[in-house]
Amino acid sequence: MASPSAPARLVVLVSGSGTNLQALLDACEDPSYGARVVAVGADRPDIEGLARAEGHGVPTFVKQLSHFESRAEWDRAVTAAVAGFEPDLVVLAGFMKLLSEEFLAAFPDRVVNTHPALSPAFPGVRGPADALAYGVKVTGCTLFVVDGGVDTGPIISQSAVPVADDDDVASLHERIKVAERAMLVDAVGRIAREGLQVEGRSVRFGGPAT
Ligand code: GAR
Repeated sequence: MASPSAPARLVVLVSGSGTNLQALLDACEDPSYGARVVAVGADRPDIEGLARAEGHGVPTFVKQLSHFESRAEWDRAVTAAVAGFEPDLVVLAGFMKLLSEEFLAAFPDRVVNTHPALSPAFPGVRGPADALAYGVKVTGCTLFVVDGGVDTGPIISQSAVPVADDDDVASLHERIKVAERAMLVDAVGRIAREGLQVEGRSVRFGGPAT
């Protein structure tokens, strides 16, 4: 995916504070990482994630669903904006909207999402809260290849995080996010440098078998 002269091109989509994006931006400062963030997109303006991108001189775009006649039109606009930056990999890093099959078809097996729970447990937007409410003793984070479901795609990487007796949702999510940033940086770097093979639910780093 990457070569010494051409690091892999990442487009990152965010909806909030962008600490996962920041971890990627920092990792990409090292040329040996093998990737660079070529654009950051968001579904809302005035968020910290966009400011982080601008701070690194990375181009940004915003596509707000409410500015479009239909979900399909919004989705087409997001697809076109992302495609315009010719990504090798699209990273959803706290992007809180589902993308259509058309979007995914434009970047086959090249859209990955980070989720703050150990899939297949606790999909959706309340991963840490649902894990805490269920009473699990271990939760964590998952990086997966996005498919048409909600956090159901083939798993690239996971990291476990113990739940503490005195955790609330905020403290648990913060600890998950520490593990999540490390997992994301490690896995995205490996995808950039080694490639990613997806066969059904089986995912491995590396290029096609020769
Ligand atoms: C992350 O924990 C990410 O996994 C989660 O939002 C947080 C964003 O943090 N995403 C989801 O819950 C999606 N289902 P960040 O904006 O600081 O990177």
